[in-house]
Amino acid sequence: MAVAKELEAVIGRIDERRLWDRHRAIANFGATGRGGVNRQALTPEDIAARKQLLAWAAARGFAASVDAIGNLFIRRPGRDPDAAPIVAGSHLDSQPTGGNFDGVYGVLAAFEVLEAADEAGVATARPIEAVVWTNEEGSRFAPGTMGSAVYAGHLALEATLKIADNRGTTLGDALATTLAGMGVSAHHELRAPIAAYLEAHIEQGPILEAAHRRIGVVTGIQGLKWMRVEITGEEAHAGTTPRTARRDACAAAIAMIAALRDLTRDDADVLRFTVGRFELSPNSPNTVAGHALFTIDLRHPDRELLVTLGSKIESVCREHAGGCAVSVTETLDSAPVRFDPAMVAMVRGAAERQQLASMEIVSGATHDAKFIAELCPTAMIFVPCERGLSHNEAERAAPADLAAGARVLAEVMLTLANRG
Ligand code: GLV
Ligand code: MN
Ligand code: MN
Repeated sequence: MAVAKELEAVIGRIDERRLWDRHRAIANFGATGRGGVNRQALTPEDIAARKQLLAWAAARGFAASVDAIGNLFIRRPGRDPDAAPIVAGSHLDSQPTGGNFDGVYGVLAAFEVLEAADEAGVATARPIEAVVWTNEEGSRFAPGTMGSAVYAGHLALEATLKIADNRGTTLGDALATTLAGMGVSAHHELRAPIAAYLEAHIEQGPILEAAHRRIGVVTGIQGLKWMRVEITGEEAHAGTTPRTARRDACAAAIAMIAALRDLTRDDADVLRFTVGRFELSPNSPNTVAGHALFTIDLRHPDRELLVTLGSKIESVCREHAGGCAVSVTETLDSAPVRFDPAMVAMVRGAAERQQLASMEIVSGATHDAKFIAELCPTAMIFVPCERGLSHNEAERAAPADLAAGARVLAEVMLTLANRG
């Protein structure tokens, strides 16, 4: 077959119904009964979703391998077994109240390309792979984008394995259970060469839907910092302790958050500041809180602005500590990323050739692609989601949009896989 014909054959085999049914199948693992999932990283639900993907891979005869942080690679071989693969994927773990598309789509779209190539009987020069990155969300074990960060050498494996969840389970232990549950014996090296990386994802914001575009040609990802603020005061009786004698960790945390909201006010609404976790101890109505913890998620496309703001956070917290001790720890620092222009042009070109309305977009959410972009040419493909809603059980995407994104992915992956 001539190359153009082969490409059309693979694109023609992208199956909207199968892709949709697979989303529904993965949605069973960790289903909350309210339309969404709780499938946090390295839980039995995450293991079950990975096993389902492995079963689909085995049915096709695709080989699987796993690296030291649990990233899972499914390979369709190429004519040259020594050539670095073209890899696409995302994650299967979810937020505690997550939807059925965030991450899952990128994994299933990549797998759909492998299957479509197989069904079309089209061989590629390079291997093509679907990857599941471990713990993208970071809600159980912080920070997120962990699997790709370890893969790219951004986080040290040994230190990462010691990170514990709220219940004191270490990532190392949860990972050992996951690896045993998956039963994949083939080992994949961290930092093994990747020729190019692509990630398909729902947009998770309202821009494509409002602009009536099917494909987001992602040019980069905004910068992000995570911090953890811990406040230690003194537990005391709520009925008897005068205000002046209190070291109230809750009151201090609230004052800090109010001051931080002032610090991060942005009339242009580009800067994002979120306190998503707030914990008190002992969490009792009639005891002054002796301990408080909150997290900060801070995002902006401009690195310098993010660094300057980030450096002010600790002093603002100290100013509002009300006699409590404060510690501020940065748990994630990721610089804004600009994707490889040639890869971005390929995504744009494929969307145009397939006559899909597209536009350039900077990702507001973070993705594993940001770390893999340090290793190889990388790009992302967005499709719209209803009302831009994500990190919400009501997250929705249309089957036709998911299939359209997978067809663009197929074109770019296949083209790259046949290049020298
Ligand atoms: C990914 O889930 C993010 O927090 O952007
Ligand atoms: Mn995601
Ligand atoms: Mn997410």
